[in-house]
Amino acid sequence: MTHKMPAVVLASGNGSNLQTLIDLKSANKLDLDIKLVVSNNPEAFALERAKNAKITTWGKSHKSFESREAFDLNVIAEIEKAGILSNQKLIADGKDITKSSQVGCIILAGYMRLLSTAFIQAFSGRILNIHPALLPSFAGAKGGLDALNYGIKITGCTVHFVDEIMDHGPVIIQAAVPHKAGESLDELMQRIHKLEHRIYPQAVQWLAEDRLSLKDRVVYLKENSKSEKLASLGNQELSFLVSPPLEKF
Ligand code: GRF
Repeated sequence: MTHKMPAVVLASGNGSNLQTLIDLKSANKLDLDIKLVVSNNPEAFALERAKNAKITTWGKSHKSFESREAFDLNVIAEIEKAGILSNQKLIADGKDITKSSQVGCIILAGYMRLLSTAFIQAFSGRILNIHPALLPSFAGAKGGLDALNYGIKITGCTVHFVDEIMDHGPVIIQAAVPHKAGESLDELMQRIHKLEHRIYPQAVQWLAEDRLSLKDRVVYLKENSKSEKLASLGNQELSFLVSPPLEKF
């Protein structure tokens, strides 16, 4: 492992995806350096998790700001303070610093707030999100519940780049799970959550290794002869299908 990609995690709630990233990073399995954790909910457990891991936090309610944009401008400023430059600064610098340590990514991990255009443009192409359904089906805040109520037989989770439309940007990796007969929403979501904890770090690692490229809205993954591929079909207990196949960290 060489260069570690600087990152900021935005989370509004429990933060189990954040915890997974922290744990894998501590175990030296991810080329990631979490510089800051931001929340629009000062009570979010995600902030506690960050503090326990000695990561800088910024947690303020969006309600104390006059607009979505005003809140986001503050978040952008905090991100820059943490050493990750916005696109505007990268361009304004006038030199090629695309490999500089100030190019980082923004990881949305249960961030229950729509981002303003200003924020998305500030970090376009560098924002990731995870959604608990197979996009483009069941976008929105209640993706899991909506899928179950619809009567789906297969659902899952999706990691994607963020664009200006909610849960719409280019897909990086998806994992599918069957809904077992009689399974409650909680049980189903627990299985999906377990998979999120595997596919999100995987997508982050691919980005850190600079192996993702984009054409139109299709994400391509560069092969790496050194990486050891794991099966794309899960074991009996988890029973999932994932694509692209997971790799060993
Ligand atoms: C996950 O289900 C994720 O897909 C969605 O929000 C949830 C966050 O869970 N975007 P956690 O806070 O990481 O436990």
